[in-house]
Amino acid sequence: MQSIEIAANDRVFVLTGAGISAESGLATFRDSDGLWSGYRIEDVCTPEAWDNNPELVWQFYSARRENAEKAQPNPAHRVLAELEDKLDAKSGQVGDRFFLCTQNVDELHERAGTRNLVHMHGELFMSRCSEGCGKPPIADHARYDSKAEISRCSCRAMMRPHIVWFGEMPFEMDRISREINRATVMLVIGTSGSVYPAAAFVRWARQAGARTIYIGPEEPLNAKEFTRIVLGKAGEVLSGLFVID
Ligand code: APR
Repeated sequence: MQSIEIAANDRVFVLTGAGISAESGLATFRDSDGLWSGYRIEDVCTPEAWDNNPELVWQFYSARRENAEKAQPNPAHRVLAELEDKLDAKSGQVGDRFFLCTQNVDELHERAGTRNLVHMHGELFMSRCSEGCGKPPIADHARYDSKAEISRCSCRAMMRPHIVWFGEMPFEMDRISREINRATVMLVIGTSGSVYPAAAFVRWARQAGARTIYIGPEEPLNAKEFTRIVLGKAGEVLSGLFVID
C-alpha cells in the first residue's frame, strides 16, 4: 500500500468517527450491528427524548459507559498519538501541527496519548445540569437505571449526559473552523459522512487547499470530496501508513 507523506510543515487535521473505536469493541451507529439497529435515535438521542423519558436516555448512556470503560485503545488510536508526538517534535511547538476532532464520546484517543483534541459531540463520562444553570460539566462514571437514582445539580435539576444530541449545536465549532482553515492535510477515519456539520469538514478543507484522505473499510457517503481513499480497517492500515519528511 502506498504511504501518506506528511511534510514537517504540514498542518494535519484529523476527524474521527465511531469506526476508529470499532476494533476496541465499541459499536458504531450505522453498521448492521450498530447502535441505531437496536435503538431509535428519537427515543434516546434528542432533547425531546430527554423530556419524555430521562430514565431510558440514561439507560442507553449507562450501557455505553459500561462498554466504554472496558474498552482499550487500539493501534489506530496509538498511531495518531505517535503522529502528534512526531509533528510536535519537528515543529518544537506543542499543538501547532496536529489537531484531532472526534465525533466519538469515548476517551480512547486521550488514553492512547493524544493531547490536542476536541470532542465535538461531547463526552460519555461527563454530565451537566439539564436546565443549563451555568455550572460547568462534571466527571461522572455512574450508571442510572431509574429516575430516582439520576443525580441532581446543586440547583436541583437532573443531571443529563454531556452529549450533543440531534438538534443541538456541536461543541467547539469556532476552534474547529480555525483549524480546518489552516490545515494542509485532512485525515478522516471511520465515519460514514452522514452527520453534519462533520460530514462537511472535508469539503471546507479541500476548498481551503488541503489534501483530503479517507481511511475506513468502505467508502463514506461523501467519498467524492476526498483526494484519496484508503480502504481497510483503521487498526490494520494506519500502522506504517504515514511517512514524515
Ligand atoms: N476502521 C475504520 N472504519 C470503520 C471500521 C474500522 N475498523 N469499522 C467500521 N468503520 C466505518 C464504517 O464503514 C462506517 O463508515 O465506520 C463508519 C461508522 O459510521 P457511523 O456508524 O455512521 O458512525 P459516525 O460516522 O461516527 O456517526 C456520526 O452520528 O449518531 C451520531 O453522534 C453520533 O457521532 C455520531 C455521528
